[in-house]
Amino acid sequence: MPDTQTAGRKLSHIQTTLHQQVQSHVPTGFDDVRLLHKALPEIDRAEVDLTTEIFGHKLNAPLMIESMTGGTPLAAKINKTLAKVAERLGIAMGVGSQRAGIEDESLAYTFRVARDAAPSIPLFANLGCPQIAREDAVERARKAVDMIDATGLFIHLNALQESVQFEGETNFRNILQKIKELASKLPVPIMVKETGAGISKETAEACEKAGAKGINVSGLGGTSWAGVEYYRARAKRLKVQMELGTTFWDWGTPTVPSIVEVANSTSLKVFASGGVRNGLHIAKAIALGAHYGGLALPMLKSASAGEGAAIGRLQAVIEELRNALFLTGSRNLQELRQAPLIITGATYQWLTQRGFDPAKYAMRPGR
Ligand SMILES: Cc1cc2nc3c(=O)[nH]c(=O)nc-3n(C[C@H](O)[C@H](O)[C@H](O)COP(=O)(O)O)c2cc1C
Repeated sequence: MPDTQTAGRKLSHIQTTLHQQVQSHVPTGFDDVRLLHKALPEIDRAEVDLTTEIFGHKLNAPLMIESMTGGTPLAAKINKTLAKVAERLGIAMGVGSQRAGIEDESLAYTFRVARDAAPSIPLFANLGCPQIAREDAVERARKAVDMIDATGLFIHLNALQESVQFEGETNFRNILQKIKELASKLPVPIMVKETGAGISKETAEACEKAGAKGINVSGLGGTSWAGVEYYRARAKRLKVQMELGTTFWDWGTPTVPSIVEVANSTSLKVFASGGVRNGLHIAKAIALGAHYGGLALPMLKSASAGEGAAIGRLQAVIEELRNALFLTGSRNLQELRQAPLIITGATYQWLTQRGFDPAKYAMRPGR
């Protein structure tokens, strides 16, 4: 049966995020972090190497277009544009929740277009908790992976959004057990991602124990999904959901503390996202222990303006990242991970209260 409800929701998410102010009011923490400038970098900017790998696949830069969409013709167009850009630049990409394509096979093409346009990139499948809570979770996850010949599968955690959304599905029982089952039965790595409220040390440790191979922190400071649901509730004049959306607009762990929490408590691949808006943010994330950085909403906006705009946006991100390596005297991403950085303000306080030592980053010798 065609899943018109899911498809309609996906379309309204695209329209709301494109046309309303859905940004969190709380900062990511990137402004509290400064990489120590090296006035004598003693390297040539031209020798800076941004290449890395992800589950055995080469990337030209540690960059990912975040999981966003699918399920409608407009989403297919966006996925195709984004995938072409990712293929051209040699970076990774995720598609949005594939529920619509699983429940209505005639919509599978809206995800598949990404693989067709980007045959060689690491491309990640995506499912939400309500999907993996089901009896047939393994079968659904296999379908999602096969639909796009995925390199791995992201399970997205969006308890905040579901709890604010008027049609939200809020049974999050036994999800860890399901992650464990998927990790043992699927042929590709399973990863966990938030959707804008961040992941704590404790949750990251539990996911690692369950067999997840990576965590996308998707912290607070970028797109607010409580904010998105506020606008959708307003359009339907649902007063309680409007209040919930307003009150929980800025709920969560900001992106920078979340990176530190996850990178210091697990040995998993860490994806930094949530308010990542430029290459300097990605450089800071990597120096804090992340392996990759990703942008969602800025890429939706630039893809809507066309392929050229999306390529231009990412080329700027890549050059900003390269510059940060040059100015810290880092020839490659391994060296950037040792670059000294200073943490101040609310982020310093967060980390100290959570038992992390911000001074350990400042006292690094660097290269
Ligand atoms: C239009 C839109 C749709 C999204 N849909 C999904 C989704 O289906 N699955 C998912 O894991 N994350 C989804 N996200 C969340 C993003 O992957 C990302 O975690 C979040 O938006 C924070 O990043 P940002 O501040 O760069 O937008 C979506 C984001 C946007 C903007």
